Amino acid sequence: MTVTIRQLGKHFFGEVSGVDLRKPLTPQEAQDIEAGMDKYAVLLFRGQDVTDEQQMAFALNFGERENPRGGSVVKPEDSRLAQTGLNDVSNLGKDGKPLPRDSRINLFNLGNCLWHSDSSFRPIPAKFSLLSARVVNPKGGNTEFADMRAAYDALDDETKAEIEDMICEHSLMYSRGSLGFLDYTDEEKELFKPVLQRLVRTHPVHGRKSLYLSSHAGAIRGMTMPEARLLLRDLNEHATQGEFVYVHKWTVHDLVMWDNRQTMHRVRRYDQSQPRDMRRATVAGTAPTVAQQAAE
Ligand code: OGA
Ligand code: MN
Repeated sequence: MTVTIRQLGKHFFGEVSGVDLRKPLTPQEAQDIEAGMDKYAVLLFRGQDVTDEQQMAFALNFGERENPRGGSVVKPEDSRLAQTGLNDVSNLGKDGKPLPRDSRINLFNLGNCLWHSDSSFRPIPAKFSLLSARVVNPKGGNTEFADMRAAYDALDDETKAEIEDMICEHSLMYSRGSLGFLDYTDEEKELFKPVLQRLVRTHPVHGRKSLYLSSHAGAIRGMTMPEARLLLRDLNEHATQGEFVYVHKWTVHDLVMWDNRQTMHRVRRYDQSQPRDMRRATVAGTAPTVAQQAAE
């Protein structure tokens, strides 16, 4: 079958047909999908009833698996999906039931409702994320995507010049802290130490620039905190205007794949008393966005 892609958003977001993700991809299919990612930045595949193993195998066409350590407050032994290598983005506990509303894990996971780019809190941030909908929540839970290339292009020249070489500090403690989640164990403080990321990054294939924003960003090198936070707020407000956003409403067995280097995303609030089972395979990036961290 031939891979075909239909653009759904104004600037980005394509829907793919003609591929069965339960089967190994042909080299041509893998190449077409990667080229589609470069162009559309987010791709939707409908009707993909994949197992955890098939989802991971599909992801590995595009790079190595990112090690999930350091991305959550769930200890590996308490993880529902530890064996599969997938990130658990559900609201479920190990018993398969929705987590108590006030559970620490649930409160931490609510951070996904803030605009972000996956793993921008890691020295080498994620390349692609592939999210599979296994159980869809009855109320809310849409995922929104924003095109950070189009948002960058729309900045005025003065702002582009001002931010070109800025370096931000990103940490899970900044995103969660903005929701009032402030208590961490010493081990978590060590795991969640801030890392540096460029504010403007360039795509390695097509060379377009994008705003590298994320709610994990909480400081800018050489700037006072209030000035940095205000600038980041303004940029986030600009970048998430309706013009640059595409809203995805989930159907069971949808798989959505996004490029974290050129987009942000967030999930909208949903009914926490009902299950929402979403599983993510994450493809690791290959290089830091700042030269200083290359040697670490
Ligand atoms: C993620 C994420 C949003 C959602 O998987 O990285 O932010 O809709 N998920 O669950
Ligand atoms: Mn995410």
